Amino acid sequence: MNVAILGSGYVGLTTGIALAYIGHQVTCVDTDESKVAILRAGKMPFFEPHLAELCALLDGRLEYSSDPADTIPGSDVVFIAVGTPSLPDGSPDLTYLQAVAGSISQHLGAAYTVIVNKSTVPIGSGNWVESLIAEKSGRRHRPRQHFSVASNPEFLREGSAAHDSLYPDRIVLGSDDSRAVERLFQLYRPILEQTFPAPSFLPRPEDLEAVPLVTTDLASSELIKYAANSFLAMKISFINEIGRLAEKVGGDIQKVAKGIGLDSRIGSRFLQAGIGWGGSCFGKDTAALISSAAEYGLTMPLVSAAREVNYRQREYVVRRLLDELKILKGKVIGLLGLAFKPSTDDLRDSPAIDIARDLIERGAWVRAHDPVAMERARQEHPDLGISFVEEVESLALDADALVLVTEWPVYRDLPWESIAKLMRGNLVLDGRNVLDRVRLQGAGFQYVGIGSMGLAASDDSAFALAERSSTAIGKSTL
Ligand code: UGA
Repeated sequence: MNVAILGSGYVGLTTGIALAYIGHQVTCVDTDESKVAILRAGKMPFFEPHLAELCALLDGRLEYSSDPADTIPGSDVVFIAVGTPSLPDGSPDLTYLQAVAGSISQHLGAAYTVIVNKSTVPIGSGNWVESLIAEKSGRRHRPRQHFSVASNPEFLREGSAAHDSLYPDRIVLGSDDSRAVERLFQLYRPILEQTFPAPSFLPRPEDLEAVPLVTTDLASSELIKYAANSFLAMKISFINEIGRLAEKVGGDIQKVAKGIGLDSRIGSRFLQAGIGWGGSCFGKDTAALISSAAEYGLTMPLVSAAREVNYRQREYVVRRLLDELKILKGKVIGLLGLAFKPSTDDLRDSPAIDIARDLIERGAWVRAHDPVAMERARQEHPDLGISFVEEVESLALDADALVLVTEWPVYRDLPWESIAKLMRGNLVLDGRNVLDRVRLQGAGFQYVGIGSMGLAASDDSAFALAERSSTAIGKSTL
């Protein structure tokens, strides 16, 4: 099929690359000409593993344009993948969505077109976009003869966007027009049935034979997106809330997470306690859900609490530093990681930025290192007042404490023994609970994790041995 994708951010570009990979002819459109120039030069405008490698396999099936007029007519499917950032009151800013709907109405071709909303939009936006296009294109009478608007929320994660697009857990299609659903079923068929050849660098998960399809009405589809992100955000905040109690009672949140996550009704994913969630989605989407509910006179107490717990985690990190160092004024704190999660250079709602700001306001000197996000941090936060260092050794030199903010794998294997010798103090606050506590303590560090006082005997080799053998014979671990 001929596919146009309006908006070449994470969602639009990844969708375009995946659809071209499975055989469609795709044009990614973006009004930002500098971004289009970068893409045409064969580069990616952001760091995301495997996208460039996939692009190299497309045999000319993916083009880029800054002009929707060239692209929309003649497209069987037009995706809307523009940003919906939060307004100060938490509701999403629909300016880009409205602009793109206007552009579609202007350039819609004569043949029936399916317009797919992939942007995360407030409930009811599908109907709103349909009415806007019908009105502005002069197709008020029986618009469905000409076009139909469907919702197809995106569930990809930054850092594994290519994998998530080719091997999604499910595909959700919201529409009450069977013609639109049939076309989108055909569009996604190679993914649904997993008939495409897997790229060598992104092998198909062993147990994946087919991807479930959920078809529903527009409003339910839009709600699925918000509910999924809010649930994941709640799950993380839940484990962080329990982590605070685990610290008080002398427990170990990692063991608690394992103990509850092995219950298949709960599941072990998204129970990693730490500094909490960031990124462009959870904060924005939980706020939007609360604001949508408010329109109907509803409150969302669980979702509101998940937000409160999450943002308190960032303050808590600073408080733990204060507790341990006593005085923050004049102290040198090194942040390991700036991105909101590993494998991305995205800094949106990143805990590192809030923590750095808070520390600087309290008079500390803050240095930061990140394997890929430093350039972006320099550009996006020129006034933050932190210094960026290229080597972890420079971060550690005469530092009083290090805080692991982003769990880049490279940080796990640092030469901790020599790093210890460079520092003035010996505190490491492991904000993601990923470092080897025993090794760090052996190197002379005072190790502070999140959700445990570091006293539990969980690493004791006798415990580890018992766990391994009970797992081997298929029994519960404790
Ligand atoms: C999230 C969702 O996972 C995707 O399904 C969704 O498509 C996307 O938002 C979106 O709406 O576009 P993303 O924000 O890229 O994806 O990243 P996640 O992997 O979900 O991580 C979000 C945050 O939660 C990160 O800061 C991560 O460090 C944190 N996290 C995650 C935890 O603190 N603990 C965990 O156990 C898991």
